[in-house]
Amino acid sequence: MSAKKGKENRAGGAANALWGGRFAAAPAEIMAKINASIDFDWKLYRQDIAGSRAHCRMLVAQGILSEADGEAILQGLDQVEREIAAGEMTFDPALEDIHMHVEARLREIIGPAAGRLHTARSRNDQVATDFRLWVRDAIDELDAGLKGLQEALLDRAEEYADAVMPGFTHLQAAQPVTFGHHLMAYFEMVARDRGRLADCRRRLNECPLGSAALAGTSFPIDREATARALGFDRPTANSLDAVSDRDFALEFLSAASIAAVHLSRLAEEIVIWSSAQFRFVTLTDKFTTGSSIMPQKRNPDAAELCRAKAGRVIGALNSLLMVMKGLPLAYSKDMQEDKEATFDAAAALSLCVQAMTGMVRDLEANREVMRAAAGAGFATATDLADWLVRALDMPFRDAHHVTGALVKLAESKGVGLEQLTLADMQAVEPRITEAVFEVLGVENSVSSRTSYGGTAPTQVRAAIRAARERI
Ligand code: ARG
Repeated sequence: MSAKKGKENRAGGAANALWGGRFAAAPAEIMAKINASIDFDWKLYRQDIAGSRAHCRMLVAQGILSEADGEAILQGLDQVEREIAAGEMTFDPALEDIHMHVEARLREIIGPAAGRLHTARSRNDQVATDFRLWVRDAIDELDAGLKGLQEALLDRAEEYADAVMPGFTHLQAAQPVTFGHHLMAYFEMVARDRGRLADCRRRLNECPLGSAALAGTSFPIDREATARALGFDRPTANSLDAVSDRDFALEFLSAASIAAVHLSRLAEEIVIWSSAQFRFVTLTDKFTTGSSIMPQKRNPDAAELCRAKAGRVIGALNSLLMVMKGLPLAYSKDMQEDKEATFDAAAALSLCVQAMTGMVRDLEANREVMRAAAGAGFATATDLADWLVRALDMPFRDAHHVTGALVKLAESKGVGLEQLTLADMQAVEPRITEAVFEVLGVENSVSSRTSYGGTAPTQVRAAIRAARERI
């Protein structure tokens, strides 16, 4: 609180000014310290003041608060918000949390009328409302970021719609795919991440305000009005549930964890692809760092950190699940531990989304290297087997066996499948004709995979067009 802060609010002084009516002495210093949440929940100040404005207007409209007091409170709240935004408020652990800081400062500005704002309200429904509003804002910000990432993926996928690379299973080259197709896989993951966040937003968008401490209130409040004023779809239906529910944060952290896991997979691929052993992609100086001892190094630190930060997000989810597990109804102070982890997870994920968007836009694919790798390791063996089925009407199991023999032959000669001669092939299966060579090149392989959702450049371009319409 500013220089004017009253001594009575300090631990070690008299009892707490806001709830200390029946207390004769101040709490022990360590009690004040463990009890205080202001160090982190000050971040809720905008949501807290928005909630107070809506509550105040409703109290006036219902005749519970006079117009004059309501006006004074609203003006005072504007000033408190300006002061906090300008960094002018000094936080005092004796005032515990953001709710009490706002009210105490309001009292300094407008006098005893400030005390009327808390009519028909408790910090329990207040914090539940503030935190929902905060998570809702975090979802909106993340959604915008994820949309930006999708746009980056689409742009790059379009550019590389026909760039052939090895597709992997078990991190062993499996079948050729295109880099555009691979990038579009991440587009789909991000689309589901946005869907999960949207689901979470829809469910959380109910207003706890007016549930008071746990049982509701005897004042003739209008919960529909406060819900509407704060952009909620409706008031929550049960006051006990409203003050003790943190599902919205758990759902947010679950969706955030899955999104972080997706980003960590792309991050890992960028780390692998940009290694000297792969050289599939190059990141520019903008997204790499050097080593202080090894001058040749170009390290993908941003990708590594995106990979690692998934741990923080998942940790936050686990932490809140553990806090909530087994808590009896309704509010318990345990629930004050919901915020730090959620704030931290949201910040970490938002940072990762931005960094990943930057890297997707920054990376340069090395088409030649990827193409050469796509051709290595008998990657078109499945195409050969499919050809035997189609052209010779062979059962797939037999075709698989014949292809295996051809791979073995090529391996013993140290050549690729397409470098075997027709005579070599006919020694294994006499009915094979010259036409087989058409399916052995990697370009032919990818362009033949025209099934819906497949890797053929025609399919990839169609998927990109459809995706642009979807977002
Ligand atoms: N700082 C508290 C929290 O974050 C606000 C609610 C306090 N309620 C109470 N009954 N002491 O949970």
